[in-house]
Amino acid sequence: MLFQTTSNLLTAAFLSFLAATSSSFHHPPPSSFPPHRPPQNPPHTPPGIPALDNTQPVGTNPISVSSVQRLGFQVANNSCSHRDLGFTGQIAGEWYAVFGDTLWCDTGVTNMAADTPGFHGMVRDAVSLLTDDPLTVVDLNLNNDHPVPHQLQFIPFNPAWGENNTYGFGGTSLCETDARTATAAIYYLVKNGNTSGLIGAGVGKVQVIHGTPTVTQRLGEKGYWWDAKTTPRYGDICAYRDEKSGFIYIWGGPPIYVTDWLNSSYVYLARVKAADAFELSRYQYYWGPRQGWRPQVLTLFTPEAAAMWGTGQGQVVWNAYYGCYVFVHLGIGGGTVYLRTAHALEGPWTPDVQVYTATPIDGGLVYAGVAHPYLDTTGRTLVISYTNNNHIEVIKVVFK
Ligand SMILES: *[C@@H]1O[C@H](CO)[C@@H](O)[C@H](O)[C@H]1NC(C)=O
Ligand SMILES: *[C@@H]1O[C@H](CO)[C@@H](O)[C@H](O)[C@H]1NC(C)=O
Ligand SMILES: *[C@@H]1O[C@H](CO)[C@@H](O)[C@H](O)[C@H]1NC(C)=O
Ligand SMILES: *[C@@H]1O[C@H](CO)[C@@H](O)[C@H](O)[C@H]1NC(C)=O
Repeated sequence: MLFQTTSNLLTAAFLSFLAATSSSFHHPPPSSFPPHRPPQNPPHTPPGIPALDNTQPVGTNPISVSSVQRLGFQVANNSCSHRDLGFTGQIAGEWYAVFGDTLWCDTGVTNMAADTPGFHGMVRDAVSLLTDDPLTVVDLNLNNDHPVPHQLQFIPFNPAWGENNTYGFGGTSLCETDARTATAAIYYLVKNGNTSGLIGAGVGKVQVIHGTPTVTQRLGEKGYWWDAKTTPRYGDICAYRDEKSGFIYIWGGPPIYVTDWLNSSYVYLARVKAADAFELSRYQYYWGPRQGWRPQVLTLFTPEAAAMWGTGQGQVVWNAYYGCYVFVHLGIGGGTVYLRTAHALEGPWTPDVQVYTATPIDGGLVYAGVAHPYLDTTGRTLVISYTNNNHIEVIKVVFK
């Protein structure tokens, strides 16, 4: 079942709804502050038990930057839209980008800078093929628009579950589950059409069909597993298939009843063996350094059980040059690109190194760190992209 949409289904009213709600969806920056939270004893720590804050930086960050070059904007060579995110992931040797809200350019427009004002249709997410050039992607899953086709939605809504085209599906990176059959998992956050509506985090089965990653199944009775009312939104911050252990790690924000700024910026972690990604009972949940990985879904939303704080969306990569994991993120403020490192994915993580500060386009939002590790497997350089006001901006970092 492929999702179909046309511009006449999606009205200007919907666009203004998006403008009003997309900020809570993509965790963009409300203000500027350091991405590690200030040290503080968690309240209500039982007497005699030392307070633990697993989100504090530990050790020294080995990264030393020799130079950073701004490469430009990433665009498609066969379609045209304004969009965000573009998290990278690999299936059977090919790398793909998963974008968020994809606003089609006007009929026939091939250069987004030359688009006409107004709303020309959109989808809530889309998938593209990455190329050897980080500034060029090939858009997949195209419609019949002429002369310039536009992308159809990647993660389909299902009317049988009460979903319609006002629902959002925030996706992170594709995580390969079986290279032989070109199958992967996509983690996504289901968001209702109303302003309060984060519903739950789920996983979709993705199969590459005629060169196009295609969601062939959404798991769970209603298309999601982790109810946002009670459990973390696993996967809405970052999803990473660890090539060392064969586990998929998924980071996500807390349940929606946690609303204050400090507590809602903690990030919680779960994992599963890649081959078991479509079986909910095989997931393990991180309860912090003392309790470790448990089969029980997390119900403790404290700094001890958290894996990070205040990062916004990002991507983890293994870096062969430094011999450690690197997390690329932009914090939740200011448009600065940060890199932190770790030897284990549950942490602890080192302090961040700042590598670049973007200039917001028209004062817009800058967020979501994306890594392109396939461009240099030695890890001596790392190409990074991020969203700058619905443009995908690309930089290249050279390490010392
Ligand atoms: C887009 O780029 C891909 C990869 O480099 C290439 O194979 C394809 O021919 C290009 N398409 C167009 C329309 O230029
Ligand atoms: C989509 O679903 C929401 C929530 O169920 C509903 O309020 C809204 O009217 C629906 N919109 C359309 C265009 O069907
Ligand atoms: C908004 O969505 C949430 C989550 O599905 C739901 O609980 C709530 O009733 C909805 N509110 C309205 C006004 O439709
Ligand atoms: C944050 O969560 C803690 C529990 O870990 C709670 O004691 C505290 O009151 C919360 N902070 C706010 C501002 O609600």
